Amino acid sequence: MTINIRKCCLEDVLMLQEISIETFHDTFKDQNSPENMKAYLDKAFNINQLEKELSNSLSGFYFIYKDEELAGYLKVNTGDAQSEKKDDESFEIERIYVRTIFQKQGIGRYLMNKAIDLATGLGKKTIWLGVWEKNLNAIAFYNKNGFVKTGAHSFYMGDEQQTDFILTKTL
Ligand SMILES: CC(C)(COP(=O)(O)OP(=O)(O)OC[C@H]1O[C@@H](n2cnc3c(N)ncnc32)[C@H](O)[C@@H]1OP(=O)(O)O)[C@@H](O)C(=O)NCCC(=O)NCCS
Repeated sequence: MTINIRKCCLEDVLMLQEISIETFHDTFKDQNSPENMKAYLDKAFNINQLEKELSNSLSGFYFIYKDEELAGYLKVNTGDAQSEKKDDESFEIERIYVRTIFQKQGIGRYLMNKAIDLATGLGKKTIWLGVWEKNLNAIAFYNKNGFVKTGAHSFYMGDEQQTDFILTKTL
């Protein structure tokens, strides 16, 4: 198996939109109404929004390929790009998504290790992320990778208020 990870650029926006919508929909469709799902997808993954995020030097998107097939992606933030106000020693994993058919083959671990390498390289002290309290699969994956619960915050899926746990790993 050959694994490659590369940083995305502005020209990747259409591919990024496609994999973002596919993986978010596959992950959350069974636990959310179609209306709330559509509202979220339209807001979070429209081309303008993604272009803005791709252009932000404090954010980074990475694609992972398994045997040259796009298998997942990672989005990380530092400084003011973090989705909650955090100090300059923290590093956020905002999104880590593996396409369904590539899950449980070690791809998520490669993406997690990439995030840890990036954070360590920047001299950050902690990595944090928000995860929906009902996303037990992801919580188990994060716990396995050394993240512990340090807080919670609200998240809007369409008009539904949901709770995200904040998980943190000390580097
Ligand atoms: C969560 C996710 C990124 C994990 O990626 P993955 O490629 O399936 O995970 P890996 O195969 O790399 O697993 C890495 C390790 O975590 C463990 N792990 C993965 N999922 C697990 C689970 N549900 N329960 C317990 N352990 C789990 C694996 O056993 C493995 O441990 P090992 O190396 O000791 O065997 C992936 O399932 C995913 O994209 N899910 C849908 C999207 C999502 O929920 N993203 C997070 C949003 S906050």
